[in-house]
Amino acid sequence: MNAIRNRIEIMHGVNLDQLGRRDPAQYGDFTLDQLEVRITSAARELELVPRFFRTNHEGEFVERLHRLEGLADGVVLNPGAWSHYSYAIRDALELAELPAVEVHLSDVDRRESWRRQSVLGELCLARISGKGPAGYREALEHLRKELL
Ligand code: DQA
Repeated sequence: MNAIRNRIEIMHGVNLDQLGRRDPAQYGDFTLDQLEVRITSAARELELVPRFFRTNHEGEFVERLHRLEGLADGVVLNPGAWSHYSYAIRDALELAELPAVEVHLSDVDRRESWRRQSVLGELCLARISGKGPAGYREALEHLRKELL
């Protein structure tokens, strides 16, 4: 058992690996690798230890959540479009029983109406959207307050 609860799983879902090619007005012009470098330095400043996971496959996302027990103390997740409809991911997040924060790079409340819906919302400490990479730092700050 880890006495210090500082291990944060950062999970990127469908199409996030295409950052850099997606609409820069919504998502910026950085790649997912570059985003993860920024998240790593924000996490270090906050004395958190990030571990990254990315996939375009919903079942892999679900299975990663299943395996977090004992390996992570909190979760930051941006499941992409799955956030809006995947009850499978919602149920797996519930099973993980970890403090979680949902992040979206773009401002999902000011885009198409279907993006306003999140099936994960009630399981998360916060839902941060429209703040670009800074939203991940804010998510880590929420978890730090919760865990340390
Ligand atoms: C997103 C917003 C989602 O609506 C969209 O499907 C994505 C990315 C975001 O980070 O802004 O793929 O999660």
